[in-house]
Order: sequence, then C-alpha cells, then structure tokens
Amino acid sequence: MQGHAESGRAAAGRSPGLLRGGLSSEELEGWAERLEPSPPVEILAWALERFAGSLALACSFQAEDVVLVDMVHRLGGLDQVTVFYLDTGLHFPETRTTCQRVTERYGIEPVAVRPALTLEEQAARFGDRLWVRDPDLCCRLRKVEPLWRYLQGFEAWITGIRREQTPARAGARVVEADRRFGLVKINPLVRWTREEVWAYVHRHGVPYHPLHDRGYPSIGCAPCTRPVGTGEDPRAGRWSHFRKTECGLHA
Ligand code: ADX
Ligand code: SF4
Repeated sequence: MQGHAESGRAAAGRSPGLLRGGLSSEELEGWAERLEPSPPVEILAWALERFAGSLALACSFQAEDVVLVDMVHRLGGLDQVTVFYLDTGLHFPETRTTCQRVTERYGIEPVAVRPALTLEEQAARFGDRLWVRDPDLCCRLRKVEPLWRYLQGFEAWITGIRREQTPARAGARVVEADRRFGLVKINPLVRWTREEVWAYVHRHGVPYHPLHDRGYPSIGCAPCTRPVGTGEDPRAGRWSHFRKTECGLHA
C-alpha cells in the first residue's frame, strides 16, 4: 500500500497552521469563494494545477466517484492523481466488478487501502460481526483509521460528496481545510444534484455500479446497505437499523 508515511513533498515547507501543501485556511477560503460557481471540471483542473503528483481521489465506485475519474481522464490528469478505495473486505461483489470495469476503461489501477486488522483479527479482538453491534467502531477500524494513515502521503484529496446528501454535508465547500486529516479536501460535485450526476453518466457512457439500477442509490459495505423503496431518502438504506448517517470520513 502506498502513502503510509508522510512523503517528503507533503511534509516539506510546512509551518504551524498551514495544511500540507502550504496553504492557510484563509487562502483556501478565498479559493472556495472563487471556485464556488465553477463547474466540477474547472475545480478539478485547478486541483491538478495546484496539487499534481500529491493528489488522491477517494473512489467508492458509486456513480459520483466514477464521474470524477472520467472528468480527470478527460483533463488528461490521471497520471497526476492516485485513485484509491478503502477496501473494508465487506464490499458487494458488484463493487469489485465495477472496480475492474473502471480499471479497464481508464487504464488505472486503483490502490486498495486496507485496515490494519483482517476481518478474522477484528472478530477475535472485538467479537464477530462488529457492524451489527458497534458500527461506529467498525467504520473507525475499517475506514477512518486506514484513510487517515493513507492520506498522510498527500497534500489534497478529492471526494464525491454532494451537499444534498446529508445535513452534515450541506455546509461542505468546494475546497476546504480538512483539519482532521491535515490536508486540503476538494469536493467538485458539492453543488450537483443526483440528476446532474446521472445526466453526466449517460452523456459520457460512464461505467456505473449495477446495484444503482436495483434500488441502491447509495452503496457502502454489504452488511450495512439495503435497497430503498420508492419515496424513501436515497441514504435510508445505509446503516438502516441505526441512527448513524455518516461513516466518519466526512465528519
Ligand atoms: S459514507 O461516509 O456514507 O460511507 P458515501 O458512501 O456517501 O460516504 O461516499 C461519499 C464519498 O466518500 C465518496 O464520493 C468517496 O469520495 C468517499 N468514499 C466513501 N466510501 C469510500 C470507499 N470505500 N473508498 C474510497 N472512498 C470512499
Ligand atoms: Fe463496518 Fe458497516 Fe462501517 Fe463497513 S459500513 S466499516 S461493515 S460498520
């Protein structure tokens, strides 16, 4: 796995108060305001110019993320961006096949970022099927901590979050300081609606996760995702037996 230690470039020239990459919160706020009306592809072009070579794209293989891969591909920037996925070991088989289709279509090899504990080790230490008893701890072990370790090697990361998805995401900026992970966070699709994402997918023939056509607008790990019914919130199928709405990557 790449990126465990903070890379020389990511750490270089860093003063207290600055994020990796040398930007202050004030400078980032200025960029957020300037880029707010820009289309996603222009936000990505800015990110490529500013952070090329130290830029990671978090890809869960849901429609939003493959749209972002497609846009970076059209900008000719895939060699400057590391596409990675958090491989919890609990994904749907269809997520793996979507990963293969993305690999073939774009000629990239997404990096699998894995937890410190295997599923067997986690069960031995915390009990079997932790996700049915303590999904917050399970997400921390299988997603948040691996992401934290991995992102130490980068100056900025790109995500597919959108403001309409959850109350916590309603305030997300186009670019923002991710203080928890210590780097810049870029959210090119924040302003987009679901309809805009799907219009792009169909216009450009973007490969998409087959479960989206089977009642799954939002897809995470298999044990914590169910299909939603007509009229239900698109995220109602995530951790549906709990109050949980976020896995902690975007808190
Ligand atoms: S979650 O926090 O509820 O799981 P969600 O599924 O909405 O997140 O995805 C939001 C964004 O988080 C995605 O667009 C992607 O950038 C990132 N993300 C979520 N899950 C993963 C994953 N398994 N691997 C990489 N990135 C992910
Ligand atoms: Fe565990 Fe469920 Fe979180 Fe996946 S989504 S890491 S299975 S609690």
